[in-house]
Amino acid sequence: MVEEIAISRNGDRLGSSDGAAPVAAAPVPLSDVDGWASLPRPTGVAELDRVLGGGLVPGSVTLVGGEPGIGKSTLLLQALGQLARCGVRGLLVSAEESPQQVRRRAERLGIDVEGLWIVGETGLSAIRAAVEQVRPDVVVVDSIQTVWDPDLESAPGSVTQVRGCAHALVTLAKTAGLTTVLVGHVTKDGALAGPRVLEHVVDTVLSFEGERHHALRLLRASKHRFGATGELGVFEMTDAGLEGVDDASGMFLGDRRAATAGSVVFPGMEGQRPLLVELQALVVPSSLGTPRRSASGVDAGRLALLLAVLHRHADITIPGCDVYASAAGGARVTEPGADLALSLAVASAALGRPLPDDLVVIGEVGLAGELRQVGQTPRRLAEAARLGFGRALVPRSSAGSSAGSSAASSAGSSAGGTLPTVPAGNLAEAVAVALGGARPRSLRPSMPAAGSGSTQ
Ligand SMILES: Nc1ncnc2c1ncn2[C@@H]1O[C@H](COP(=O)(O)OP(=O)(O)OP(=O)(O)O)[C@@H](O)[C@H]1O
Ligand SMILES: [Mg+2]
Repeated sequence: MVEEIAISRNGDRLGSSDGAAPVAAAPVPLSDVDGWASLPRPTGVAELDRVLGGGLVPGSVTLVGGEPGIGKSTLLLQALGQLARCGVRGLLVSAEESPQQVRRRAERLGIDVEGLWIVGETGLSAIRAAVEQVRPDVVVVDSIQTVWDPDLESAPGSVTQVRGCAHALVTLAKTAGLTTVLVGHVTKDGALAGPRVLEHVVDTVLSFEGERHHALRLLRASKHRFGATGELGVFEMTDAGLEGVDDASGMFLGDRRAATAGSVVFPGMEGQRPLLVELQALVVPSSLGTPRRSASGVDAGRLALLLAVLHRHADITIPGCDVYASAAGGARVTEPGADLALSLAVASAALGRPLPDDLVVIGEVGLAGELRQVGQTPRRLAEAARLGFGRALVPRSSAGSSAGSSAASSAGSSAGGTLPTVPAGNLAEAVAVALGGARPRSLRPSMPAAGSGSTQ
């Protein structure tokens, strides 16, 4: 077996990665360890740095996953370009695109390629040789699925190859202090193709998402050894490449149509960032024996549960109807604080009555139909006020405490003004407040009951 050598920044051989421990690290008192040596260094791409909690940590390994064509190569070329402007030496291992193609992209994106190196190789040993020759600070491998080690008796792209090569690159990163970014393709269902195992060997896993036919791109961390994973990066794909979006709420609500039944605005939180999202529902007569429940960007199980609570505690029954629910613009809303907004979107769609235009909705819904307060309500309300909303429907328990007049003061000086709150104690009350006092009616009372919460 060919010995795999790890190379330090000063050229020393640090050890082999042929199965033996690469370096015999002596134990040291934790108090002697310099924790500041591994602070993140900004990449210069602000939304990427936001998700990474400041930037890339030297010697760390980051996996960037995303569907084909979503913009992974563009994002990382832009990051390498920004880093190069600050004197950081970058090496792009471009196994999928030729150096000529990458150069053309760099020109299109206006990236100064001075200080950037590229190698169009897929063999692991060639990548090692390139690292030894260039001695980069940062290496980007695009993509890990195309890297190939002839010593592994397995076809390129196989799980064995991807796992083995990733492990070798992680060893190289750790022993040589080489900041490494691996690009990974994801399959249609969102899993990193083949190697979920990769997620365990790297420090950080980022996923780059969005509709290919829509300009919005979202960057999230699903694992991060150096910081929180809740932050969201928002980009717009333009002719000049990926541009960070400061006003993400404004962008998500940009295409919203006023006075539409089935549409409710929810002030969510993504990490430390308030983000207004439009939740939509559509309720239509079903031609299926078991009506369809479709959830996109919201949790299907939660939707089924809320349909049951609406039925039991708010007298909203939708027998024989398909229910579609989604978070508009490719957003993904997972917090229970969106329960009330999603419930009211369904109720509004079922009843064919829009909510008031200036209303945002916050609240978790319990199985007994009670409404529970949601964390960081003042910040959410301040963001809604900033975008011109006039009122917020909130659980009664939060109306007198964190919400209401304290919204602006608690949200910091940069946030908007106050937002009057409309309290509701339970789901039925919230439906009456948001959609009018008349008793809700069943949409198609003559039809047999819907397949109580079956999800497809
Ligand atoms: N000449 C161009 N002008 C404007 N936008 C372009 C141009 N070429 C590519 N794009 C945009 O860049 C996107 C491709 O980005 P990129 O190659 O970075 O994606 P990727 O995730 O690396 O894809 P892959 O999985 O195929 O490697 C295209 O979908 C398109 O939106
Ligand atoms: Mg690519």
